[in-house]
Amino acid sequence: MGKLDGRVVIITGAARGQGEQEARLFAAEGAKVVLADVLDDQGGAVAKELGEESAAYVHLDVSREDDWAAAVAFAKDAFGAVNGLVNNAGILRFNELTSTPLEEYLAVVQVNQVGAFLGMRTVAPELAAAGGGTIVNTASYVALSGMALLTSYAATKAAVVGMTRVAAMELAGKGIRVNAVCPGAIDTPMSNPARLDPAADPAQVAEASEAVDGLYRKLVPMGRIGRPEEVARLALFLTSDDSSYITGQPLVADGGWLCGVSVF
Ligand SMILES: NC(=O)c1ccc[n+]([C@@H]2O[C@H](COP(=O)([O-])OP(=O)(O)OC[C@H]3O[C@@H](n4cnc5c(N)ncnc54)[C@H](O)[C@@H]3O)[C@@H](O)[C@H]2O)c1
Repeated sequence: MGKLDGRVVIITGAARGQGEQEARLFAAEGAKVVLADVLDDQGGAVAKELGEESAAYVHLDVSREDDWAAAVAFAKDAFGAVNGLVNNAGILRFNELTSTPLEEYLAVVQVNQVGAFLGMRTVAPELAAAGGGTIVNTASYVALSGMALLTSYAATKAAVVGMTRVAAMELAGKGIRVNAVCPGAIDTPMSNPARLDPAADPAQVAEASEAVDGLYRKLVPMGRIGRPEEVARLALFLTSDDSSYITGQPLVADGGWLCGVSVF
């Protein structure tokens, strides 16, 4: 028996990275997964691999209200109801506060913050109609601590934690639990974009990867960057009945990074 047997879950940003691993794990645990992304070829290929009994892909730009309505209609048409949502889609921009153009700041807000807001607002009534359900938002380590060069990103992730708490209170009476995952550094294209460029020189990609690994060996008490499957397992916990008495919480998966300053 799977932990998500019979549950229909929409996962945004599911074409790659953490969202892809969440889609694979949730399908393995018996869920019907609606993979949503703007990378249609990649997302469609993952859904196809999982099989039409378990998965379907829909184009969804999380910053667009009309896309959300269409994605929910698609999910109900494909699998009959919606029982869960993982708001995973996100973007990252590095810049110093004083150099950040307003357009860049707002672009990050539009995806990370407005996207999570629209997702919760659109899906919550469907979860209530299905008798309850779960929402897992994706915040970050930087929602709870600071990191230089991340003004726009940190602002949106703190907003996600804030919205998670409010939504948890407002939706508890409808049988809906709302929590947030707060990953530390996770090995995905977001943290290591060098690997994404098919034209990149393999030696330079290896060098960039080594630099990323070396950085986290020093910064993280557990001495390594995290794997996207490790965040997927936390999202599974928060979507399954294993977390039946947990709501409104930011849960951290960061190899101990947030503990403080390490002297080792
Ligand atoms: N990788 C990390 O170190 C890390 C750490 C903390 C939090 N996070 C968060 O985890 C989530 C997943 O990130 P990841 O590391 O897998 O990154 P990623 O870049 O590999 O994946 C992000 C996915 O979101 C999709 N996406 C981007 N904009 C979108 C939009 N407007 N509509 C729909 N989909 C969109 C992308 O196409 C991509 O498939 C993000 O919210 C990110 O902020 C990542």
